[in-house]
Amino acid sequence: MLKWGIMGAGGIARVFCNAARFSQTGRVVAVASQTPGKAALFASDFSLEKHYDSYEAMLADPEVEAVYVANIHPLHEEWVIKAAEAGKHILVEKPIGMNSTEAEAMIDAAHRHDVFLMEAFMYRCSPQTQTLVELVKSGVIGQVRLIRSVFSFQASFDPTRRTFSPEMGGGGILDVGCYPASMARLIAGAAAGQPFLNPTEVKGCGVLGPSGVDHYTAATLKFENEIVAEIITGVTLRLPVEATIYGDEGMISVPNPWLPSSPCRTARQPLPLDTSFPSTKILLHVYGKGEPEEIVVPVDRDLFTYEADMVATHIAQRQAPAMSWEDTLGNMRLLDRWRQEIGLVYPQDRV
Ligand SMILES: NC(=O)c1ccc[n+]([C@@H]2O[C@H](COP(=O)([O-])OP(=O)(O)OC[C@H]3O[C@@H](n4cnc5c(N)ncnc54)[C@H](OP(=O)(O)O)[C@@H]3O)[C@@H](O)[C@H]2O)c1
Repeated sequence: MLKWGIMGAGGIARVFCNAARFSQTGRVVAVASQTPGKAALFASDFSLEKHYDSYEAMLADPEVEAVYVANIHPLHEEWVIKAAEAGKHILVEKPIGMNSTEAEAMIDAAHRHDVFLMEAFMYRCSPQTQTLVELVKSGVIGQVRLIRSVFSFQASFDPTRRTFSPEMGGGGILDVGCYPASMARLIAGAAAGQPFLNPTEVKGCGVLGPSGVDHYTAATLKFENEIVAEIITGVTLRLPVEATIYGDEGMISVPNPWLPSSPCRTARQPLPLDTSFPSTKILLHVYGKGEPEEIVVPVDRDLFTYEADMVATHIAQRQAPAMSWEDTLGNMRLLDRWRQEIGLVYPQDRV
């Protein structure tokens, strides 16, 4: 059993800790928070053995084998590198950092210190996404031509909130635009029989708010296999989530592409261990062959449990196929280009 320590005791850390309780491959043994008292409360809520009021103290604990870096993205680079130096395996929340330069530094540290590293794109670990990739590879919708992918939400403007703060990595592209970007690259790659493809062309438009972060934006991508993708994100605009793939013989749509089957995502308390996990579905419409078919994908764990298991079962390889280091670099470089197209610059960007 892989022994996890959680770094940062915020919202997503609670989801992961809850989900890890359903894992057969690991368990959370410690939590660390830089906010006084927060780790103790977290540990009490989840009956954890240890809690620390500094990240350094947890990194010095020899029992902790892997850390889940769950603080805000401007802090990821510092703490991923320190975790690698301490010899810990690492799962780091998305986006891995503020830009591709930071991503390169973290990957370099994982390589030099010979530790596992994965950016936590949980949807990539789900059986639903694996089924989607297999469907695309099977050619059931013919040649893939176009992908449309959306993740956007509506928050009220408040410059003191992380969502709108440039210093804290606010705005849509980094927060949720990284999902449609990674989906487009995944599907374009599947159509080419590869784990992912990077776009050869990126064109974007967007609207920045008064604090300087992107409020809503769209980008159009073109890949070497002549697939075009439209990716959309925002933090002030409610849109239906979407991942739709159009081929010349049919289309596939995924009603819940990003958070399929995750009761832990909304649970406030530790869920009972006999909780059941709802199956997920993908809609397949092959033109001229009747009504769209509903493909049911069985699920036996929470989405975030699949993510924890993905790490534990690939520790020896130091990377996992759900999100390899090259895949992360390609995604961060796409986010850099999208930001460049709309004039979005963060204080952390280096010349
Ligand atoms: N995969 C997903 O579904 C998902 C969902 C939501 C968020 N995320 C990602 O997960 C990360 C954390 O998101 P979250 O929603 O959990 O964030 P959060 O609850 O607002 O904060 C998480 C932790 O970050 C640290 N932090 C927050 N604000 C800070 C500040 N102003 N200065 C210094 N430290 C601060 C705190 O760590 P301490 O406890 O150490 O004080 C806090 O507990 C982000 O990178 C986000 O993109 C992923």
